[in-house]
Amino acid sequence: MSTEKQTAQIVFVVGARPNFMKAAPLVAELRRRPGFEVSLVHTGQHYDERMSRLFFEELGLPEPDLNLGIGSGSATDQLAQMIQALSEEFGRRQPHLVMVVGDVNSTLAASLAATKLDLPLAHIEAGLRSFDRGMPEEINRILTDAASDYLFISEPSGEVNLLREGFPRESLHLVGNVMIDTLLEHRERAKSASVLDELGLAERGYAVATLHRPANVDDPKRLAGLLDALVRISAKLPIAWPLHPRTRARLESFGLASRLEETEGLRIIPPVGYLDFLRLMDAARLILTDSGGIQEESSLLGVPCLTLRENTERPLTLESGTNQLVGIEPEAIVSAANASLDAPFELPELNCELWDGRAAVRVVDVLESCRPALLVRWRRGVDAGGAKCLVS
Ligand code: UD1
Ligand code: UDP
Repeated sequence: MSTEKQTAQIVFVVGARPNFMKAAPLVAELRRRPGFEVSLVHTGQHYDERMSRLFFEELGLPEPDLNLGIGSGSATDQLAQMIQALSEEFGRRQPHLVMVVGDVNSTLAASLAATKLDLPLAHIEAGLRSFDRGMPEEINRILTDAASDYLFISEPSGEVNLLREGFPRESLHLVGNVMIDTLLEHRERAKSASVLDELGLAERGYAVATLHRPANVDDPKRLAGLLDALVRISAKLPIAWPLHPRTRARLESFGLASRLEETEGLRIIPPVGYLDFLRLMDAARLILTDSGGIQEESSLLGVPCLTLRENTERPLTLESGTNQLVGIEPEAIVSAANASLDAPFELPELNCELWDGRAAVRVVDVLESCRPALLVRWRRGVDAGGAKCLVS
C-alpha cells in the first residue's frame, strides 16, 4: 500500500496535571488530520478528581484508551512500574511514534520505554533547562531530550540549549507553546467561571499563590519561611491559594496547617480546575508561584508574577514577560510583592510570535511531513539522520 493512504499510529502518554493542558490541543489536532490515529495512555501519576479527571472534562480530552493506575510512590518505584507497564503497552500496539510532553516522571518513563523498544519518540517542550540538577524535572528533561528523535521547542532558549548540547539541527523544531494554545482557546470561556464570586474576590483585588516544588515544600524551614511571606502579603491583599496535595500533606506533617486557618487573608482552597484557575490568574493583581507553567501563563496574560525560586527554565518570561525571579527568602519576597503592588498595574502581555495559539498545528505539520518516514518504521542507529524525515 502506498504510504499516502496508511495511517501513522501514535501513542500519546500523559500522567500529571501539567501534561493535560499541553496534550489537549495536540490530541485534537492529530484527530482532525487524516493520516494519524492517536491513542491516549494515562499513567495515573495524578489521580485525584481535581488533579486529573476535571481537566479531561474541561479541555475536551478524550477518555484515555488505557489508564495504568500507577499512582504515587517513590520516584524509583513510580518509574519502574510505569516503564514496565508502558513497555508492555507499546509492545502490544507497536506504534509508529510515541509522544510525550513536559518533564514529569511519566514523561521520562515513556521516553525510556520507547527508546528501549526502538520506537521513534517526539518530545513536546524540549530544550528547557534550569541548569539546576537538584530539580527532578531537570534530569527528566535532559534524559527525555537525549532519547528523543523529534524535539519540539516552545521558546528560543530551548533551541540554543539543544544546539549547545550537540543535537542535530534537523531534529529541532521551534514551534511555540502548546500550553498557550489551550490558554488562548479557553480565555474567553473562563471569564464566566464563578470562582471569584465564590471566594468573595474582586478583579485586581487579590493575589494567587501556588507552591509544590519539593525543594520548597519538603523542607520544613523553607516551607515555614514561604508561608510566613504569604501571610505577611495577605495582610495587604487576600491571596487565593489552591493547595497542591504534596503541599497540603507537608503543611500538615510539619505542624504548619493551623497558620492557614488563623490567617484571614489566605483563601485556602483545594486544587481548582483549569477554567477556574485561568479566571483566577487573569483577574489577579499579582501571582506568586514556583510552578513552571504558571510563569508562562501569567506572562501571556500580562499579570505580574513573582517566581519563588532561584532559577527558571523559561527565560523568555523574564526577558519579555512579567515574571521576576525573587528567590525564597521571605524578606525578598515581601519586598518584591510590595514593590509590585505599589507600582501601577500596566504590564504588557507577552508578545512572542510563536505563542499564538497555533503551536499544535505546527507540530502536526512537521509530523505530517515526516509521516512517510514514520510509516516505513525507520530504526534508530540503522537508518541515520535524514531517513527519519524524508521531506523536511
Ligand atoms: C509532579 C511533577 C512535577 C509537576 C507536578 C505538577 C515529577 C517528578 N514531578 O509533582 O514536575 O510540577 O507534578 O503538579 O513528576 N498526590 C495526591 N493526589 C494526586 C497526585 C499526587 O494526593 O492526584 C500526592 C501524593 O501524596 C504524592 C504527592 O502528591 O506522593 C506528590 O505527587 P507526585 O506525582 O509524585 O509529584 P508532584 O509533587 O505532584
Ligand atoms: N493549574 C490548575 N489548577 C490549579 C493550579 C494550576 O488548573 O489549582 C494549572 C495551571 O494553569 C497550569 C498548570 O496547572 O496550566 C501548571 O501545573 P503545575 O503548576 O501543577 O505544574 P508545573 O507547570 O510546575 O509542572
